[in-house]
Amino acid sequence: MEVIIKSDKLEAGKLGAKIIARLIRDKAKAVLGLATGSTPLALYKELVRMHREESLSFKNVTTFNLDEYVGLDPSHPCSFYSEMHKNLFSQLDLAKGASHLPDGMAQDLPASCAAYEAAIKVAGGIDLQLLGIGHDGHLAFNEPGSSLASRTRLKTLSQKTIKANSRFFGSEDKVPRHVVTMGLGTIMEARQCVLLAFGRDKAEAVRDMIEGPVSASCPGSVLQFHEKTIVLLDPEAAGKLKRKQYYLDVYAGKPAWQLWD
Ligand code: GLP
Repeated sequence: MEVIIKSDKLEAGKLGAKIIARLIRDKAKAVLGLATGSTPLALYKELVRMHREESLSFKNVTTFNLDEYVGLDPSHPCSFYSEMHKNLFSQLDLAKGASHLPDGMAQDLPASCAAYEAAIKVAGGIDLQLLGIGHDGHLAFNEPGSSLASRTRLKTLSQKTIKANSRFFGSEDKVPRHVVTMGLGTIMEARQCVLLAFGRDKAEAVRDMIEGPVSASCPGSVLQFHEKTIVLLDPEAAGKLKRKQYYLDVYAGKPAWQLWD
């Protein structure tokens, strides 16, 4: 894992956007894996700015989102479908039908999950998967205890996640209990992962993910086995890392050809 600590979340978001822009400019038909939550919002803003001001085009890009709530109509303001449309898709030149989310309204969920996995394969696999991390170390909606080899499937949210996500719904009882999420095995097949984490309240999960043992108890720790993962942090989220100074030294000493600026 490459750990980069930026001065704040805006700077980290900008760097994440540069990494994505480089991929889109280098690869004719890039496939992006996208995430929801508050963490990637600064990065999405920067992508929209690059699209408007630096002619970064998404017309050949395909996207797959990590997860969706079960039983929430896509038109519901808290569905991940709505969130993605508001914060990103409606502001880019993506082709019609190029953006995919798991279907939380499917009658046959196992078949729909298998179809989602198949669609990722048909698209050529995910080139870059964007990720956040939950306070309990979850990736997408793979709660602690998830199989490190899991695929897209139905999951039950933990009380901790229901509580954390109730800020979007207004109250805990309005948060759906079930979700459809890409599995950890699905995420691990992405050619590159970029994980963002900000704020003091993520510091423990970040420490366990980067420096703890690889364990289903911290699903994010599976990324220690990923060949190409970049973790972008602010100083607060990096606050509990034992090797913090080392990560700062590595980034400060990078040769120019390894930078994105
Ligand atoms: C949600 C999402 C994750 C996200 C996490 C953190 O449960 N399913 O993909 O990374 O919560 O959310 P936030 O970025 O708002 O802290």
